Amino acid sequence: MNANAQHLRSSANKIYIGVALTPSAFSESNYKTIAGQEFNCLTAENEMKWDAVEGSRGNHNYNAGDQLVEFAHQNQMKVRGHTLIWHSQVPNWVQSLSKADIESTFKKHITDEMTHYKGKIYAWDVVNEVFEENGVLRNSIWHKNLGDNFVAEAFKIAHEVDPNAKLYINDYNIESKNAKSDGLYKLVSQLKAQGVPIHGVGFQSHFSVGAIPHDFASNLQRFSALGLDVAITELDIAMKLPSTPEKLSQQARDYASVFKDCLSVPRCVGVTIWGFTDKHSWIHGDALPWDSNYHPKPAVAAIEAVLKGH
Ligand code: XIL
Repeated sequence: MNANAQHLRSSANKIYIGVALTPSAFSESNYKTIAGQEFNCLTAENEMKWDAVEGSRGNHNYNAGDQLVEFAHQNQMKVRGHTLIWHSQVPNWVQSLSKADIESTFKKHITDEMTHYKGKIYAWDVVNEVFEENGVLRNSIWHKNLGDNFVAEAFKIAHEVDPNAKLYINDYNIESKNAKSDGLYKLVSQLKAQGVPIHGVGFQSHFSVGAIPHDFASNLQRFSALGLDVAITELDIAMKLPSTPEKLSQQARDYASVFKDCLSVPRCVGVTIWGFTDKHSWIHGDALPWDSNYHPKPAVAAIEAVLKGH
């Protein structure tokens, strides 16, 4: 029997195992088959970002995102919505609006997109990457025009549109205790104290082989102790090429350790990998568990062993 015959999703009892997908690769049968067999949650890699859904003002196009939702439905996968408010992949027409126009457009975008997907999304990354590395709010189009309050506002609007969706703040370089995660911790504590409808924190987790933060689990734990779900939302673990057997083994241990970290925190609800095959990855460095020929790398068996509790 093939060691992987069981498929990761059937070993994942306590958490979901997610993947970022793009329908542009659906023409490859391996891509669709492995995605549907191994994972039980999906995130749109780009198709639900603002530039993808409203490239010109008022012209909405949800086709690619809808294809992903349909694929999720066919394969009994949850969907994470990614992402409503971000400083990147914002269409040009938004960047040239007046201040007054920006406020109403911000609200309209959240409302339009969440209305379209209402009832189909398990969790939304309502705001993405809103912190600078030193832990202050990023100097983005949103912060410049709307001030500190834009984060709370985004959550309030989102909750009104789809009260059943879990609402997340998502960021990178927050996996350790550091200035950035401290800034996030302070903001999230304040939002909870003010009764803002925030339900989770997403830790992107774009890592390098051999460099998984040693305090990841305790950092996840301090956020969950605020009464929030935590999730690993964009995991990949890049190596310095060329790949060697040693690097592949270390990568497998690193994937295992991230899954263990999540499983050790009761409110860590799932791990999403940012793609699954090195053939389709945003990052250089063979960072994903399947190689570019769709063969499982050592990471796959290592993840499976952790999910099964071995
Ligand atoms: C990346 C996609 O993977 C790329 O295809 C795209 O060109 C740029 O965005 N943080 C995020 C994700 O929140 O949306 C980013 O995705 C990776 C970093």
